[in-house]
Amino acid sequence: MAKQRNYFLCRECGYQSSSWLGRCPECGRFGTFDEEVVETTSSQSHSHSASQSPSAPILLQQVPDGQSPRMSTRCDEFDRVLGGGIVPGSLLLLGGDPGIGKSTLLLQTALAMRDLRILYVSGEESAQQIKMRADRLSDDRQPSSSDLYLLTETDVQRILQQVDALRPDLLVVDSIQTVTSDDLPSPAGSVAQIRHCSTLFQQLAKTTSIPVLLIGHITKDGTLAGPKVMEHIVDAVLQFEGDRQHGFRILRALKNRFGATSEIGIFEMRADGLHQVQNPSATLLSQRDETLSGTAVCATLEGARPIFIEVQSLVSSAVYGTPQRNASGFDLRRLNLLLAVFEKRCGFKLGAKDVFLNIAGGLRVTDPAIDLAVAAAVLSSNVDIPVPPNTCLAAEIGLSGEVRPVARVEQRIAEAARLGFKRIIISKYNARGLDLRRYKIEIVPVSLVEEAVRALFA
Ligand code: TYD
Ligand code: MG
Repeated sequence: MAKQRNYFLCRECGYQSSSWLGRCPECGRFGTFDEEVVETTSSQSHSHSASQSPSAPILLQQVPDGQSPRMSTRCDEFDRVLGGGIVPGSLLLLGGDPGIGKSTLLLQTALAMRDLRILYVSGEESAQQIKMRADRLSDDRQPSSSDLYLLTETDVQRILQQVDALRPDLLVVDSIQTVTSDDLPSPAGSVAQIRHCSTLFQQLAKTTSIPVLLIGHITKDGTLAGPKVMEHIVDAVLQFEGDRQHGFRILRALKNRFGATSEIGIFEMRADGLHQVQNPSATLLSQRDETLSGTAVCATLEGARPIFIEVQSLVSSAVYGTPQRNASGFDLRRLNLLLAVFEKRCGFKLGAKDVFLNIAGGLRVTDPAIDLAVAAAVLSSNVDIPVPPNTCLAAEIGLSGEVRPVARVEQRIAEAARLGFKRIIISKYNARGLDLRRYKIEIVPVSLVEEAVRALFA
C-alpha cells in the first residue's frame, strides 16, 4: 500500500523537506517551497526491482557494443548540437522562453524525418492547430508524405499506452509541464509531477530504445522550469534562445552525454518556419555600416565554428548623477570590469559616461575573444572615430590591460581572410609561432590595449 504524505519541495532544485522552510538549504534561494502531496514509493520500488532479473557485474570488455547508429534530424544545425544526431534510447530536453519556437522546431524536425514513425504528443495545442502550423511550414516539408502521428493527451499513463500500441521511432512531448500522472495528487507543472513523469519517460526510453524529446518551459529568471533534478534525469539539455524581436535563434547544448556542449546551431525564424543559417557571419555582417563610430567586429568561435559578430557601443556623457551601464548579449559585470581596466590602465576617462553595449542580431556571446572588440567599440564611440573598415579583432583583455591570447587563432584568421577582412588584431602571444606571411590578411600582434588603440585610431 502506498502511503500519502505531504512534503515541501523546492521549486528550483527539488530539495525535499517535511516542513516549510524560508530558505532552501540546497540551493540557497528564498521562498521557493511549495507544499505537495507525494506518494512514498519505497514499497513500490522494492516490488518493482524484485520483479526484474537481478543485475550482476559485467566486465567492461564484455559489454556488447552499443553500435546503434544515431538518427539524423535532417537538419545540420540540429544534428551538430546533438553531437551528430539523436542517440537511440536517449531522453532529451528542449527548453526556451515561450514563443521562441520550440514547438515549431520539433514539429518541423518531425516532418523532415519523414521515413520514421513519429508520435507528437501535445498537451498545449489541439490537433487542428498543429495541422495548421504544419501547413504553414514550407513545401519541401509536406506533411502528407510523413509518418507523423498526433496525440493530444496530458495523462502520462495514456501516453505510454499509445506509445506501446504505435511503437514509434521517436516520441515528442510538448510540453513536460502539461503532462500529469494520476499517481500523484499534485497539479500539472509542479515539481513532483515533472520529476515523476520525466522518470517514466526515461524508463520508456531506456527499455524500448525509443528516443524521447521533451519540451520544457523556462521560468522568468531564465532557468528551466521544474527542478534541477530533471537536468540529471535527461541525457541532454538543449536550450533554444534568441531575441524575439530578431529573427535569429540559437540552439545550444547546456548538457550532452553524447557530444560536446560547445556547439551551437543557428536558425532564422521566417513566415514559413525556421531556416538554418549556413553562413552566419555573412548574414550577421551584411547589415552593418562601417563608416559609423562605435562598432567593431569580433572573430568569435562558437564550438568548432568561427562566427563573426558585430559589437555596438554608445558612450555619452551621463545626464543623471550615476552613469548608466547596460549590456545586451554580453555579461554586464564583464563590461564593468573592462571599463575599469580602460580607466585605470589606459587612461580613458569613462567614469562619468553612460556606456551601452549591444551584440548585433540579438546574439549572446561568451567567448572571451570578444573583449578586444568591446574595447574597440567603446573607445571608438568615446572618441567618435570609426574603427577602420575591414578590420576585425580577437583577443581577451587581462586586468592589467594586457592583451591575452585566445584559442584556435589560426582558424579565426583563416575565416577572417575568407570573409574579405584586410586586417586582424590579435595578441602578441598568439602571433608567436605563426607564419604571418602565410595568410592573405594583415595580422597585427599587440601586447597592450593601448597598442591596439594606436593601431586602430592613430
Ligand atoms: P512556437 O513554436 O509556438 O513557440 P514555443 O513552442 O517555443 O512557445 O513559436 C511561436 C512563434 O513563432 C510565434 O510567435 C510565431 C512564430 N512563427 C513564425 O514566425 N513562423 C512560423 O512559420 C511559425 C510556425 C511560427
Ligand atoms: Mg509551444
